[in-house]
Amino acid sequence: MANILICSILDGMDVRDEVKNRLSIEDVIGRYLELKKSGRNFKALSPFTKEKTPSFIVSPEKQIWHDFSSGKGGDVFSFVMEVEGLDFRGALELLARQAGIDLEDYEKPGRPGVSKSRLYELYELATKFYQVQFKANNLATDYVFKKRQFSKETALTFKLGYSPNTGDALTLFLKSKGFSEKEMKLAGVVTMSYRLSDMFRGRLMIPLADNQGRVIGFTARTLEEEINPKYINTPQTVLYDKSRHVYGLHLAKEAIRVKGYVVVVEGNLDVISSHQAGVCQVVATAGTALTEQHLKALGLLTKDIRLCFDADKAGLAATERSIPLASKQNLNISVITLPTGKDPDELIKTDKELWSKVVEKSEYAVDWLINYYKSSVDLKSAPGKRRFTDLILPIIFSLSDPVERDHYVNLLSSLLEVSPNALTQKLMSVKGDKPKTKLPLNIISEPVDVHSVEKIKVLDNFLSLMLARKSLRNQLDVLKKEMFITETSRQLFEMLIDKPDLNVNKDLNAFKDLIDYVKIEVLLFEEIYSGLNKAELNYEASRLKAKLVENYIKTQKAILTNELKSADSASTRKLLEEAKKLDNLLNQVLVEGGLNA
Ligand code: CTP
Ligand code: MN
Repeated sequence: MANILICSILDGMDVRDEVKNRLSIEDVIGRYLELKKSGRNFKALSPFTKEKTPSFIVSPEKQIWHDFSSGKGGDVFSFVMEVEGLDFRGALELLARQAGIDLEDYEKPGRPGVSKSRLYELYELATKFYQVQFKANNLATDYVFKKRQFSKETALTFKLGYSPNTGDALTLFLKSKGFSEKEMKLAGVVTMSYRLSDMFRGRLMIPLADNQGRVIGFTARTLEEEINPKYINTPQTVLYDKSRHVYGLHLAKEAIRVKGYVVVVEGNLDVISSHQAGVCQVVATAGTALTEQHLKALGLLTKDIRLCFDADKAGLAATERSIPLASKQNLNISVITLPTGKDPDELIKTDKELWSKVVEKSEYAVDWLINYYKSSVDLKSAPGKRRFTDLILPIIFSLSDPVERDHYVNLLSSLLEVSPNALTQKLMSVKGDKPKTKLPLNIISEPVDVHSVEKIKVLDNFLSLMLARKSLRNQLDVLKKEMFITETSRQLFEMLIDKPDLNVNKDLNAFKDLIDYVKIEVLLFEEIYSGLNKAELNYEASRLKAKLVENYIKTQKAILTNELKSADSASTRKLLEEAKKLDNLLNQVLVEGGLNA
């Protein structure tokens, strides 16, 4: 774990980003609030006001939240600061703990470190080293070419290698290439017993690559069946995180696009076998259960995800777990059943044509589970029906789509010959069984001042229009930066004046420190204005602009009135002139906007 962190500080990635990368905002906020899916976002009742209709929104895509009722919003840190009553440091400590990050590793100053590019270089050289060793070792070539029946071409494509058994072959090689002990340790290719030595010995080396095909780690299989463990892997590093890494993805991408679906298998060697058999839309989540991050990576390429897990308890559990994850991401998850063989590799060895047919046919995961459990209980008896619904209803309940849930209630009703009503009742009690215990809220911020919230909303809504529609930006003239009473809105206003051509979709990075605010503005626009036509948008902009000016004028006039109390006649005249100017400004805005003065 420490490895990741040392590398990341030195690579300039800040701990704040690391925390954000590892946690998803909907999970963190979901621990405090009851989140309900609403289109691409989640909604909840605001924890800051006593509202009855939910207007607290979380955007998983933008990794931000916004509360329309109080005008508060921000990223995962600002949320935790608000609900836990913590300062930034406190929120960072709390979230780092959740993300499994040790802050100390970031904070030890002056630690000499290793950059990502050095690690890439190291893995590339190590890969080549293992490939050279492979060619010269009969045990390894026999294993790969004869026992596993891989071709030379396959071995090259997947950069298969062999790690010598001498104890320090790679260590010496990397030393001769100028790599330090520290770098080798960080890469996870050496171990330190009484002296530095090779981590992988006498094993088939299978390089793990990132999306661009760069090697970021290894998994290593023993060549002798009796040796345990069968596989050893490089540890997590800044480049390799097993809960994100999808084996074979860089080689499968094209085929996934062409075929429109992806097959997820359990083993690396299943992937290699399948590619050799010409079925290239296949990847593996080797050594771990399918995670939300794996699904995110796959979901970018296709919504059709087909699991081909081993037909054992673990495979069943993995399928069950993936249903709610996939449902949350709107992915269609289905199951491929092997007609023979323990895994795809075995099937391919006996009948590779059959494998290419098998992947074409898959069954929706929920149906697959229903059929699976159907065969394990007696559906005619009452205890059987109870047992069956105990198993299947939690899965139906985990589906995000209400229509889909309803579909299964009806289907189960006719399958079990019980009323849909009874099933719905039980479905609700499944929900009641496991009340998601929410963390207590500890909100110590000032009670929301409705007047200032209203003023801030005007600014935010107005700027959201300005950001989203360039054609409305002529509304920015006559406005002054003093009218924008929050720090962020003022900065954004100045930025839009400075660079009137900014495109929020293209130039998001140009907003730098304002990026979260800008994302909230985009979210605001999507939530409030996305259905309006051009004329309506224009009207809204004029109206908000007038309101904004009016708010400003009210405050200014209050100040003037105060000053008038103690003014001599000369300054009184000046103050009255200023008041007049303010009135004129408001009139001008109203008239230009086609609004009634
Ligand atoms: N695995 C692991 N450590 C182990 C066993 C398995 O990391 N001790 C991972 C490997 O990535 C492996 C996957 O889990 O590819 C599936 O394990 P298994 O089905 O046991 O292996 P196979 O892929 O069938 O490997 P082989 O065909 O070489 O026996
Ligand atoms: Mn196998």
